[in-house]
Amino acid sequence: MQQLTSSQQLSAFARGSDVGLVPTMGALHAGHASLVERAKQENGCVIVSIFVNPLQFNKADDLRKYPQTLVADIALLEKLNVDAVYLPQYADVYPEGNDVQQLSAGSAGDSFEGAARPGHFDGMLTVVHRLLQQVSPSHVYFGEKDAQQLCLARLMVEKLEMPVKVVGCDLIRDADGLAFSSRNVHLSDAARNDALRLHQALIRASEDFAAGERQAQNLLNTIHEVLNGGDIKIAYCAVVNDKTFAELNAEVDCGSRVIIAAEVGGVHLLDNMSLVS
Ligand code: PAF
Repeated sequence: MQQLTSSQQLSAFARGSDVGLVPTMGALHAGHASLVERAKQENGCVIVSIFVNPLQFNKADDLRKYPQTLVADIALLEKLNVDAVYLPQYADVYPEGNDVQQLSAGSAGDSFEGAARPGHFDGMLTVVHRLLQQVSPSHVYFGEKDAQQLCLARLMVEKLEMPVKVVGCDLIRDADGLAFSSRNVHLSDAARNDALRLHQALIRASEDFAAGERQAQNLLNTIHEVLNGGDIKIAYCAVVNDKTFAELNAEVDCGSRVIIAAEVGGVHLLDNMSLVS
């Protein structure tokens, strides 16, 4: 595996036309590994980027606390047979004097995670756009765990007519059902136990949907019941159209997505599930 530590090294790295990019901020886990495995199946060359993007953090403390596990990340990527890891410095991504296009996520980025973390999605799209310009992949991979991010990346690529296919990959859970997240390392044992209720609540709502329940409010009531108690503060909980992230307040149909974000033991966690009958 080549380690590309500057944009010059990235430009000089020989790659064919089928290149899969997996953009990450490091602190890699099984969810990232599944993106890499999918990218390996679909491309002749796979590049993983590791760059903790300051633009997408609205709180300096969150940026400071973001887990940094570079040695373990590189060992995992070697094991997964990635062709190259791109480890840019800030100036490689945002060169001074070069008019880096600052993107706005628009109204689809103002709700839910965007409302909880103002500016987050503008920063996320700005860096994803930069990485796509620098790497020029044929495919770019995102996990469904960050479903709003995936939706916005798709909308951006479509709007800017970028020549890349956005691939959404299944959310990956630990054996106990907790969705893999770089933030899980901050959970105490008790908080982790409480956090399992996010998945349990989604299962209950999807069972209700499969049994014929179609009213968004009734599905959400079930979720609130399951999440009631423990050290869980719901940030938002909604049923959305998976393609636009517009909130559905009345009847919901197959393919709609239930999304939850909560502070569990002080850790901001996301989870979601697509409704299927
Ligand atoms: O999901 C992430 O880790 C980040 O938001 C991403 C896509 C790598 C952009 O910084």
